[in-house]
Amino acid sequence: MPNIAKEIVSKPNAELNLTPRQIVTELDKYIIGQGEAKRAVAIALRNRWRRLIAPEHMREEIAPRNIIMIGPTGVGKTEIARRLARLTKSPFIKVEASKYTEVGYVGRDVESMIRELMDLAVGMVSQEEKEKMASKAVGLAEERILDMLLPGRSERSRQHSETGHAPGTTRSKLRKLLKDGRLEEREVPLEVEQSVSTSMTRIFTTVGLDEMEKNLSDAMSQLFPKKSHKRMVKVKEAREILIQEEANRLVDMDKVVAEAKLRVEQHGLVFIDEIDKVAGREHKGGPDVSREGVQRDLLPLVEGTTVPTKHGPVKTDHILFIAAGAFHVTKPSDLIPELQGRFPIRVELNSLNKEDFVRILTEPQNALIIQYQTLLGTEDVLLEFTPDAVEELARMACEVNDKQENIGARRLSTIMEKLLDEISFSAPEIAPTKIIINEGYVRERLAGVVGDIDLTRYIL
Ligand SMILES: Nc1ncnc2c1ncn2[C@@H]1O[C@H](COP(=O)(O)OP(=O)(O)OP(=O)(O)O)[C@@H](O)[C@H]1O
Ligand SMILES: [Mg+2]
Repeated sequence: MPNIAKEIVSKPNAELNLTPRQIVTELDKYIIGQGEAKRAVAIALRNRWRRLIAPEHMREEIAPRNIIMIGPTGVGKTEIARRLARLTKSPFIKVEASKYTEVGYVGRDVESMIRELMDLAVGMVSQEEKEKMASKAVGLAEERILDMLLPGRSERSRQHSETGHAPGTTRSKLRKLLKDGRLEEREVPLEVEQSVSTSMTRIFTTVGLDEMEKNLSDAMSQLFPKKSHKRMVKVKEAREILIQEEANRLVDMDKVVAEAKLRVEQHGLVFIDEIDKVAGREHKGGPDVSREGVQRDLLPLVEGTTVPTKHGPVKTDHILFIAAGAFHVTKPSDLIPELQGRFPIRVELNSLNKEDFVRILTEPQNALIIQYQTLLGTEDVLLEFTPDAVEELARMACEVNDKQENIGARRLSTIMEKLLDEISFSAPEIAPTKIIINEGYVRERLAGVVGDIDLTRYIL
């Protein structure tokens, strides 16, 4: 057997061997604080890389160290997982534990998360492959357009053109025109495939059975021949369609699936949100009845099993699972013991205070203030926030979080939206202009709302 792991490591995917410190530094660009959680995920990720270059006989023995992140709502749990996945370019999926129910009950079965992950990886790899084939596909598509523009002489002329002879033919003249973009508006008869299956499955399946619908639709597309019909389209449109077609044809799907499987099995990352919602071992009947069932169904996945997918079996042994939950009512110790053992790393995320809010508003690359500045900037409305305005916003967010429900950093979104409501609405009329948002402006726009409990309940 070829040394698969070496192959992966030697790929030019530099993200794969970021050091823990580098990972934390990257996460710092988007998430304020929560150092402990960042460290934990960074270590887990690095350990996966270490495993891949470990001696072969040990490799299979090393299990991933799954993580549970515990912390109140809106403090960055999901955000950390999301950024992590982007950073590593791993196949990543985020699921809510509460949407699964025990096998046999209505709902999705837990294994579907692996199937989705595999689908996603296949999509990811085939996209990459298509991009690699792009220039080739463009060439082929253009030849096909030339065929359409010169009906009847396609084969012969094609041979000519490929051997490089007959430079002065109509075809090569046309090719030049085509390449120069001078034929964009011409119409060509294009054969478009139309799959019958999608409309048919719509009839067969009812709402909510998306998994089934997908499978059915796949099965049906094989059962029914694709219907195709000719349609006149502009060259520019035909080119797009044909490039897609040619790219699809050029991509070797077997290779794509093999690579996707490898990535899922070796680098896959599953983020299970709201794990606390399925914690608890009580048997009260009703919806609770399936909680423990979901945990039991999860167990084989995290322990390592083989899940059949439409792209073939996928082993879950080395997929990294990160679970997260607020654990307000339940505790990690309410999870069934086997599952607790499979999530040995616990990290707590802190609730955010005023200082954190100030930083969240300004520091991350996607900070809310920057987002609004960018949005309004497109209309020539330049926003500037004075430091005391930011302080005041953070203070108000804290106040509302204390008085109302604590929704963490999400509060900042509602506050900012309210603050800039007027400017967002009238921007086109007041532009171009520069507006300085200072403490006074913040108070003026928000004090009334923040001070009034009844109002905040609805508005913020
Ligand atoms: N520490 C933080 N630094 C920067 N932004 C943050 C931080 N915490 C939360 N946010 C922002 O707040 C929003 C909500 O955060 P996130 O989705 O991570 O919450 P969560 O911890 O997963 O909460 P829940 O338990 O409700 O799922 C995100 O848009 C994120 O950008
Ligand atoms: Mg979340």
